[in-house]
Amino acid sequence: MELCPDIIEIRKQFPQLAETVYGRPLVYLDNAATSLRPVSVVEKWTEMSYRFNANIHRAVHFTANVATEEFEKSRNAVAEFIGASSAREVVFTSGTTQSVNLLAYSLGNSSFFNKGDEIIIAESEHHSDLVPWQQLAERKSLKIKVLPIKDDGTLEIEKLSDLLTEKVKLLCAAHVSNVLGIINPVKEICEICHRNGTLVLVDGAQAVAHLPVNVDEIGCDFYVFSGHKMFAAPGTGVLYGKKELLENLPPFLAGGEMIDTVNWDKTTFAAVPQRFEAGTQNISGVPTFIPAIETVKLLNNSKISGETEALKSYVFQSLSSDPDILLYGIPKDLSKKIPLFSISVKSAHHEDLALILDKMGIAVRSGQMCAEPLMRRFGVSGMLRASFAQYNTMDEAAYFVKSLRKAIDMLK
Ligand SMILES: Cc1ncc(COP(=O)(O)O)c(C=O)c1O
Repeated sequence: MELCPDIIEIRKQFPQLAETVYGRPLVYLDNAATSLRPVSVVEKWTEMSYRFNANIHRAVHFTANVATEEFEKSRNAVAEFIGASSAREVVFTSGTTQSVNLLAYSLGNSSFFNKGDEIIIAESEHHSDLVPWQQLAERKSLKIKVLPIKDDGTLEIEKLSDLLTEKVKLLCAAHVSNVLGIINPVKEICEICHRNGTLVLVDGAQAVAHLPVNVDEIGCDFYVFSGHKMFAAPGTGVLYGKKELLENLPPFLAGGEMIDTVNWDKTTFAAVPQRFEAGTQNISGVPTFIPAIETVKLLNNSKISGETEALKSYVFQSLSSDPDILLYGIPKDLSKKIPLFSISVKSAHHEDLALILDKMGIAVRSGQMCAEPLMRRFGVSGMLRASFAQYNTMDEAAYFVKSLRKAIDMLK
């Protein structure tokens, strides 16, 4: 199949796409786990290590100033990228998981929750947006309630109003489910919750590489994501929070430059966001957000996104029309799904399928996808997930569909 010239050019920027595994070209369809890294990101990462390695926000020397500037430039870029009203609303973390844990810990240590208060969590949530709240609930005697999903994987938003009692202080939902690929109606959720005085945390880990994200338009109170799922360096992440909310939260970790003054009898803390950035930060990784954001913008240009839409329709049609395959996450409108496909096959274990596909050069994910309650909801022990990025081609998609069919037949 003819490749879109833009995709040919873009693929050259991701050297790993030229790798072979077991003597076959690598077909990387595990982008939801972590995306591949473009040359521009690796170069920035390397430059920060080779030329500008110094700790930030501390020393007055030249290199420390460059490192600090690069770090803060990145904060401005992230704020602009997600439509935050100020860079002070952007806290750098090590990833989505740390962002949620930070928030759970700090909210838990504030006066926000009272005994008996409730948190609603979407049934399709990743463990990272579930377990920290469960632990907090145990600590503070809170109750977790579940916003269920329908059989097609979409949220039962009609049930939200009934769940929203005056005790519900927080709702947590993913912008895009890492298992179902479904884009949840987070703006509508925020509107409904805010009418009840309930705050909303949106987990954007699977959204930022695929959708334009604007926290102001969504209206969420908190938004979290990881750099490594949007082409940046691993160990980088973001907690966005409305300034007036972050300003009223106590710190998470303590030590380093998160202080204002330290005395033996009392310590006071820095303003946000530094208050939440204890210890040495990811000084080489955070600056890679700038080339990563440029990459996301490039990949979501109209020509490439047209190709990605075609690929998504093709894979969707192929998988949903195969009688041996059960596909999860099937919204009526395919524009409400990213190119991420989780399936199960009655006659074949997901891990066996993944191992066979691996030998064919195809990297997919198998297992519970960090969403055990969701697996239980669908009555399976695990699934096989193929998650595409914009640099994947129609030929790769066709090869995946053909190889999956072959693997299923081998195990019949
Ligand atoms: C929706 C969602 N939330 C949270 C996470 C956790 O991200 P990280 O491991 O980068 O902290 C993931 C990772 O797969 C995810 O897909």
